[in-house]
Amino acid sequence: MLEQSLTLPCGHMLPNRFCKAAMTEGLADALDRPTAQHLRLYERWARGGAGLLLTGNIMIDQRYLERAGNVVVQDDSVLPALREWADVVHAGGAQLWAQISHPGRQCPRLVNLTPIAPSPVQLDILGNFGKPRAATQQEIEEVIARFAETADLVQRAGLDGVQIHAAHGYLLSQFLSPRTNQRNDAWGGPLAHRARLLLAVVKAVRERVGAAYPISVKLNSSDFVKGGFTLEECLQVVAWLNDAGIDLLEISGGTYEQVEFFRQTPDREVRDSTRQREAMFLQYAAAIQGVARMPLMVTGGFRTRAGMEAALAAGQTDMVGIARPFCVDPDFPSKMLAGQLDTLPHNEDHLRLGTGYWGPNSPSAGLRGLNNYAHAGWYYHQIERMGAGQAPEQDYGPLNALLAHLWHDTGRALRRKRAR
Ligand SMILES: Cc1cc2nc3c(=O)[nH]c(=O)nc-3n(C[C@H](O)[C@H](O)[C@H](O)COP(=O)(O)O)c2cc1C
Repeated sequence: MLEQSLTLPCGHMLPNRFCKAAMTEGLADALDRPTAQHLRLYERWARGGAGLLLTGNIMIDQRYLERAGNVVVQDDSVLPALREWADVVHAGGAQLWAQISHPGRQCPRLVNLTPIAPSPVQLDILGNFGKPRAATQQEIEEVIARFAETADLVQRAGLDGVQIHAAHGYLLSQFLSPRTNQRNDAWGGPLAHRARLLLAVVKAVRERVGAAYPISVKLNSSDFVKGGFTLEECLQVVAWLNDAGIDLLEISGGTYEQVEFFRQTPDREVRDSTRQREAMFLQYAAAIQGVARMPLMVTGGFRTRAGMEAALAAGQTDMVGIARPFCVDPDFPSKMLAGQLDTLPHNEDHLRLGTGYWGPNSPSAGLRGLNNYAHAGWYYHQIERMGAGQAPEQDYGPLNALLAHLWHDTGRALRRKRAR
């Protein structure tokens, strides 16, 4: 089934079931524009055989970034660079969809000391995030308008679709969660109020891009934190999204406080994987499938062809979303489609600074944070290498990855400040 095309509700067709899920690239220039590194990276991925490539987080507002090095699309000065980006992907035979996003409180201090969020609830990870302030009514309306504007620009640049990022604890996900949304106006309180921003953004984007352009939403099945967005609430939001006209619902889970989407898949589990254990959100997707009328894409943990095919055959997912293996073997989709490869690289388990007290399960939030930085940093390093036309470097160590990550993101943030 992996090689079968999929026709979306808007009439658009995806050539096969492989999607490279969003991975923030951190490769933009000091004015937040795509660079030659993006072109080389996506040229590499486009040749690899996946029908759909999602960009990493593209920001709708240059004041609030997920990370220095994000591409920002807020006016038409970026159109020529975006067009080139779409062209290299099309030349490789794939489609390019933009993941559009606002980080809310998950915006590093070096970018903004007081980002907007639903409520002033600070994220306390290694002192890296400032205390946010509650967005005003006017700012909320501006967020809706900016999502629509960014979607319009992306469509004009020739990208093939957009994905609205409402997962992983970014702004729209913060509004959904009662832990971070403590408002008592029309945007907070009961779920219908907390979901209002996401639904308003989807509506505004649809009005702007028209009926035939693909819109996806990435949503958490659960935040996996106490007092956060739950599976039950997710099911209700999906029921509302049914009427909003979206074409592909991507299911993930977790926030910066509990990075469930980075869960490491130990070798042992992949070797004797049942499909339930392999893709971590599949069991939630089964419940979501019961409500959803749009096609689903489950992302997180898929590592074997058997696991992917079983999930497709059982109707638990319509697309297979995969991220980290693209940084190790960018050609894996072609190899799997040709029957030459059954198991993807799964080196996640080795990407930690230590075990026990030092490991990712450490009782200390600070040490867990360092491990997550090392983990992400290892993949950022591979992305930078491919952006420079080099092959991935498998034996790169997690401590180097941690230091390089901190060094690069700090350097990029300072260069951005100097350029303004
Ligand atoms: C380096 C890196 C960057 C990521 N950046 C994003 C992002 O920009 N947007 C997003 O929605 N998810 C992001 N993710 C999460 C992935 O899209 C995906 O949900 C997660 O890695 C689980 O899939 P996997 O097990 O196939 O890697 C990122 C993951 C990695 C490893």
